[in-house]
Amino acid sequence: MKGIVLAGGSGSRLYPATFGLSKQLLPIYDKPMIYYPLSLLMLAGIRDLLVISTPEDLPLYRRVLGGGEQWGVQFSYAEQPKPEGLAQAFIIGEAWIANGPCALVLGDNLIFGGHLSDLLLNAQQRARGATVFAYQVRDPERYGVVEFDADGRAVGIVEKPHAPQSHWAVTGLYFYDSRVTEFARRLKPSPRGELEITEVNRFYLDEGDLHVERLARGCAWLDAGLPESLLQAANFVQTIQARQGMLVGCPEEVAYRKGFIDAAQLRAQAKRMGNTELGRILLELADYPP
Ligand code: G1P
Repeated sequence: MKGIVLAGGSGSRLYPATFGLSKQLLPIYDKPMIYYPLSLLMLAGIRDLLVISTPEDLPLYRRVLGGGEQWGVQFSYAEQPKPEGLAQAFIIGEAWIANGPCALVLGDNLIFGGHLSDLLLNAQQRARGATVFAYQVRDPERYGVVEFDADGRAVGIVEKPHAPQSHWAVTGLYFYDSRVTEFARRLKPSPRGELEITEVNRFYLDEGDLHVERLARGCAWLDAGLPESLLQAANFVQTIQARQGMLVGCPEEVAYRKGFIDAAQLRAQAKRMGNTELGRILLELADYPP
């Protein structure tokens, strides 16, 4: 399976912090924001990755991520000239996807904890249908929302509903089978002028092929789109890393644990980070088997 990281948009809700820098390159504590969603796809075992951003910002992503050999993955790059919706990623990436299954993650989403690793692998290995992840939130009207019947089966999915039928928001991580491009091609722009990912999910739901994994209470889903949520995300990462010594959203660590790179490659990456805490943790990690 291939995977797309969507890092477009103007980051206007973070002005002036994003006047000069793409939102998804702002730091969450000690790493660029995009490292966190990228790590999720890598954790799912995905090594063929397409980064989509604006024409102005794409060169910055190339500089930060390069070709991907440092993490044993491969990056391709494509432009989204205007913010015309998440589902447009599958149209922009159509030739690259080449009628195969494809995952999508939003460049400002951070998910951590629980049995995430198993859930991601299951989603990646599912031969048919789509998998999305739902998370209980206080303000579901800001998100895509899933409605469940009495047996816990998903029966509806609505984008930013005025009267949400549940508190279960759809996170920005999606796994699709090879029909996704065809479904994306059928979409018309919504009232806000976007090709909505929720509509793609509804196609799958109508076919009886949408799997909704509910993330348990031990799991954290954060998006870093506002000044306060950016700070909350940074504090979360700092707390976990300092308390448990576990890294959050670290592609080098994931690459080593998944066997994409060996200990020597991990040490080389750690040295690139110079005299930093992250560099030291990675150097220690390289002394132990993955
Ligand atoms: C988008 C999706 C929404 C989803 C959210 C997750 O919202 O449209 O369904 O719940 O991402 O972050 P947007 O960021 O476009 O408001």
